[in-house]
Amino acid sequence: MTSWPGQPVTVVAPATSANLGPGFDSLGLALSLHDRVQARVAESGVDVQATGVSAGQRWRPDQHLVVRAMRAGFEATGGQPPGIAIRCRNAVPQGFGLGSSAAAIVAGLLAARALAAAREAATDPAGMLADSDVLRLACEIEGHPDNVAACQAGGLTIAFDTGAGLSVVRLTPLAGLAPVLCVPAVPVATSTARRALPDQVPHADAAANSTRAALLIVALTSRPDLLMPATEDFIHQRYRASTMPRTATLVATLRAAGIPAVVSGAGPSVLAFTVDDRAADAAEVARIAAQVGAPWRVLPLRVDAEGARLVGG
Ligand SMILES: Nc1ncnc2c1ncn2[C@@H]1O[C@H](COP(=O)(O)OP(=O)(O)O)[C@@H](O)[C@H]1O
Ligand SMILES: [Mg+2]
Repeated sequence: MTSWPGQPVTVVAPATSANLGPGFDSLGLALSLHDRVQARVAESGVDVQATGVSAGQRWRPDQHLVVRAMRAGFEATGGQPPGIAIRCRNAVPQGFGLGSSAAAIVAGLLAARALAAAREAATDPAGMLADSDVLRLACEIEGHPDNVAACQAGGLTIAFDTGAGLSVVRLTPLAGLAPVLCVPAVPVATSTARRALPDQVPHADAAANSTRAALLIVALTSRPDLLMPATEDFIHQRYRASTMPRTATLVATLRAAGIPAVVSGAGPSVLAFTVDDRAADAAEVARIAAQVGAPWRVLPLRVDAEGARLVGG
């Protein structure tokens, strides 16, 4: 073993929208909105500084999600450094169904892996910890795979577990896909939204949902004309509607206006799909959102094709 690096590493990790309607706990889409973490090894202790969204939150440093993920990453690559210092510049709203927890976890794991690689003077961080191990660790911390898979791989992802371990298929969505996010003012914790789900769903709903999930892959990769039927979900959104009624109303109103819209992740944000050749749709999303309840922040985004990555020191 050589010595820990003095230089910091910097990672960016994208927001992600999971489920996308019928792809519950499996489909994810990486978005062009990023958290940035600069991390370095310190002489002792844990120092966290955060700016951007949720900067006012106070953490016990060891409870901070980026730090917890870094600890897991160091554990898997040979051990903990004497101290950790991180600077977070956060743009992904926390607790709004945009994968902030996944971004924090994946960023922390990639930062720890890069610092461990520098300690060993390894040129390829993946030699210290394979991407598949990063995904597995991220999923263990997060509790479900959909956001972490899209955050790590970028693009459109299908995460699935055969029992022998977690796998991800990454697809390239339509070049013209232009997701528009509608973010309300008040968050809902993923754990709260999960509690609203029933243990069982009717067989007919399960059957309809599988059809739409299969259709959604086709729609998002080559047939945008199918996006409306393909984004219809039968197994989770309706059960969560009473915990986030404005979200349910905005999804229904957008869909009634011909714009495919879904609950983003566990909500309460709404994801609307527009395509470049119908640029007027983005303005229409904003116009409709302005009529539905308390103010929505409307963010026209692109797909992040790369996923979480090192961007230097
Ligand atoms: N950048 C971050 N730094 C530290 N903790 C974070 C960060 N992003 C998310 N978290 C933690 O994750 C929680 C939000 O996770 P969750 O309820 O799954 O919502 P989301 O849909 O945003 O992932 C926050 O309340 C916070 O505890
Ligand atoms: Mg989350």
